[in-house]
Amino acid sequence: MTESVTLRRYQGAVWDEPVVMTLSRPGRRGVVFPAPRVPGELSAIPTAMRRAVAPELPEMSEPDVLRHYLHLSQQTLGMMGISLFGTCTMKYNARVNEAITARDEVAQLHPRQPDTTLQGSLQIMHDLDLNLRALSGMDRFVFQAAGGADAAFLHVCVTRAYHAARGELETRDEIITSIQSHPCNPATAATAGFKIITLPLEANGYPSLEALKAAVSPRTAALMINNPDDMGIYNPDIAEWVKVVKAAGGLCFYDHANFNGVMSKIRARDLGFDACMFMLHKTFGAPKGGGGPAVGAYGCSEALVPYLPGPLLTQEEGAFRLQPGSDSGIGRVREFLGNLPQMIKAYAWVRAMGADGIAEASDLSVLANNYMGRKLAQIRGVTCSHPHLTAWRLEMTRYSLEVLERETGVSAYDVQNRMVDYGVDAFWLAHEPWIIPQPFTPEAGEMWSKEDIDYWIAVLAKVCQEAYDDPQLVRTAPHNHVIGRLNSGPLEDPAQWATTWRAYTRKHLTPQ
Ligand SMILES: Cc1ncc(COP(=O)(O)O)c(C=O)c1O
Repeated sequence: MTESVTLRRYQGAVWDEPVVMTLSRPGRRGVVFPAPRVPGELSAIPTAMRRAVAPELPEMSEPDVLRHYLHLSQQTLGMMGISLFGTCTMKYNARVNEAITARDEVAQLHPRQPDTTLQGSLQIMHDLDLNLRALSGMDRFVFQAAGGADAAFLHVCVTRAYHAARGELETRDEIITSIQSHPCNPATAATAGFKIITLPLEANGYPSLEALKAAVSPRTAALMINNPDDMGIYNPDIAEWVKVVKAAGGLCFYDHANFNGVMSKIRARDLGFDACMFMLHKTFGAPKGGGGPAVGAYGCSEALVPYLPGPLLTQEEGAFRLQPGSDSGIGRVREFLGNLPQMIKAYAWVRAMGADGIAEASDLSVLANNYMGRKLAQIRGVTCSHPHLTAWRLEMTRYSLEVLERETGVSAYDVQNRMVDYGVDAFWLAHEPWIIPQPFTPEAGEMWSKEDIDYWIAVLAKVCQEAYDDPQLVRTAPHNHVIGRLNSGPLEDPAQWATTWRAYTRKHLTPQ
């Protein structure tokens, strides 16, 4: 299966690079600014806006700074490896988008500028909204949410406001989801005070319609679900599900994080959903690596528009205006309008792909996933979740290394760690709760070449073989990286963790 693939040697650079603050030398400078041309010019800055104490910055020369960051970049695999990180739909982030969003016209905007000076940006937001409406059938999108989980939270707030306006919030206190929906759905619902009903999977790989009917009642406030689910299994009865929930007076929310496999094939509104969420930092080609920055684009039907967070974008006589949200709205879920550079990148992706390109990308992602499925099935120690299912998996598939672990003692974490020794990014295992032992979930997507996918499969096959031949080698991986296994103890201890230099100084350098 993997004869034609030559695995490359990979060795991360080891620099023992110190924390930048410790490279500081008093008086050393990268840039020496000229004195103010007009004496006293700086005193024009109001006293209240001036710092009382100079910021604690490292004092370094420019070459020192460049060398430091070069070393750091060499110590990581970076995001240009092959990243088949399932449920996250990793895509290439076009460099031209970075160049455009770094231009002053975007980077120097301030959200408090008068909207008359923001017309170009507002037009892009409006056009992106129109494109997402076309893809979902919804009537209106807002981009304020800072990610997928935030958009789910936005939805539970809208759900509260909607039922409160109808005088039903006291009685409608249950939200239904499924065990393989993303945990942010039950988590945000619980945060907003709802009780959660989680439907388990049945033999067909998803919860049955009968189970849903048994759960639905006059207490149902909403259904929150992603489909395909976290394992790539698509529930074909979804339109029927929506009918059942709506007949009982509940709202239906489609968490469209796994949109890649169904883009242009289905539209949430056509299936009857009241609201949906797209992740611009997954499906729409905006960067996801490093955990953000992100945008959860939230779309809804006309009936829910009064509850949206303001400010809302309107178009009057050709001009775009920012109007405060309505009195019935939920208020803000984050500051201002959301992350404009991410919206511009997503807009560029939609326009560059076009309707045909988006439909083709969806087909390719399903094809690539099923191509992988055939190949992975031949690897000793790997099994597919729900192997009896005959329906095609969509854009990703959940696999298990249970057999490998039983036969060699090597776990999915060990395999994940060893794969990076061959220069591919670590795979995603599964969201909690794990219902498949030793899970892993690759997602091939539409952008990786066949050579990349074959390379990734060859690496997995090699590591599984190593597990049988030399399990200790895999259990102690990674070996070719600057850092091997982290001692996660300090990460669990608030007295030790430090994400800023100030916290580090206080917790580790100040005598207690
Ligand atoms: C189905 C699904 N919904 C929601 C989320 C949460 O999105 P975010 O990480 O942007 O908050 C994820 C993240 O992987 C997801 O897979």
